[in-house]
Amino acid sequence: EQIEKGGYEHFMLKEIYEQPNAIKDTYRGRLQSRDNFVKMSGIEDNLRKFTNANRIIIVACGTSWHAGLVAEYIFETIATVPVEVEYASEFRYRNPIINSQDVVIAISQSGETADTLAAIKLAKEKGAFVFGVCNVVGSSIARETHAGAYTHAGPEIGVASTKAFTTQITVLTLLALKLGKANGTLSNSEFNKYLLELESIPEKVEKTLLTDEHVKYIASIFKDAANFLYLGRGYNFPVALEGALKLKEISYIHAEGYPAAEMKHGPIALIDEQMPVVVIATKKGHYEKIISNIQEIKSRKGKIIAVVTQGDTQVKKLADHTIEVPETIEPLTPLLTTIPLQLLSYHIAVMRGCNVDQPRNLAKSVTVE
Ligand code: G6P
Repeated sequence: EQIEKGGYEHFMLKEIYEQPNAIKDTYRGRLQSRDNFVKMSGIEDNLRKFTNANRIIIVACGTSWHAGLVAEYIFETIATVPVEVEYASEFRYRNPIINSQDVVIAISQSGETADTLAAIKLAKEKGAFVFGVCNVVGSSIARETHAGAYTHAGPEIGVASTKAFTTQITVLTLLALKLGKANGTLSNSEFNKYLLELESIPEKVEKTLLTDEHVKYIASIFKDAANFLYLGRGYNFPVALEGALKLKEISYIHAEGYPAAEMKHGPIALIDEQMPVVVIATKKGHYEKIISNIQEIKSRKGKIIAVVTQGDTQVKKLADHTIEVPETIEPLTPLLTTIPLQLLSYHIAVMRGCNVDQPRNLAKSVTVE
């Protein structure tokens, strides 16, 4: 096992650090920036299904559901297709109104999650075209779907999902680009801009990983907190949910993720000097609004840990701690902002003596209801 961990103390940390390569493996052979082309064998024959679709419905559970939420923003921006994101467990027990004009995308790291598998079967019965985004090759979901694309992240052993999340977002971005180009939403130059920026992400993730020591220091300050709040807007709202989920899963600290603007409708009542609030406040996307949210937290004495864009000065003046990530285009920010949140939960869990790779009561793959 020590050998498998490749010198890291835990699988989770190894998998966090594998992300630059995992993302590269995901787009390798698919992203062809020189030819201004995206090639995905799972979609070439079925592109019509996507371009003719009335809407896309994404079904997933857990972290994969969060990747689905990020994809919703990506598809709407890049491909201008209406998207709905559903918990597979809810979808399967409703009477979802879907038909052959709908495309269902099922996202699953393991490809074995019982609820997601059942949601796929239901969507197929109703005549929808079902596309899978799985990591495990040959898994049940990969076999049950009409077509799909693998994430190629390599085995993920840590129960808390990390590299599966960022590679799912990568695959879904490629899919949205393919679609945006096919339906004429994206010009050739916009398309190329996305491809080049996506190609630069592994290096930017590498740079983001350099925040590790600083994040560890922040973890040492807040490791005994009883609660955490995570806030983000737009593309970073699902990142806030994912950050909170990571902390809950492995450190057993209660954490809530919220869209920053919704704070005033409830969570603001929780804020006092005991409450650490992680705010994702990168420059692109609602920056000024996030700053006013930060001011609201500060005036109630909450402790602010902000994830900011490199070189930021405004948030730095207000926050107790800041963690810098490189600049990128807005749809790709989750690929960077999620990294320090993974590290924060990891270090807090280690400092609290928790079993990081196998947290209590959780399973890597939930094959029963
Ligand atoms: C379990 C795992 C999570 C995962 C979720 C969905 O709860 O502990 O890490 O996000 O299942 O799994 P899937 O394999 O379908 O992505």
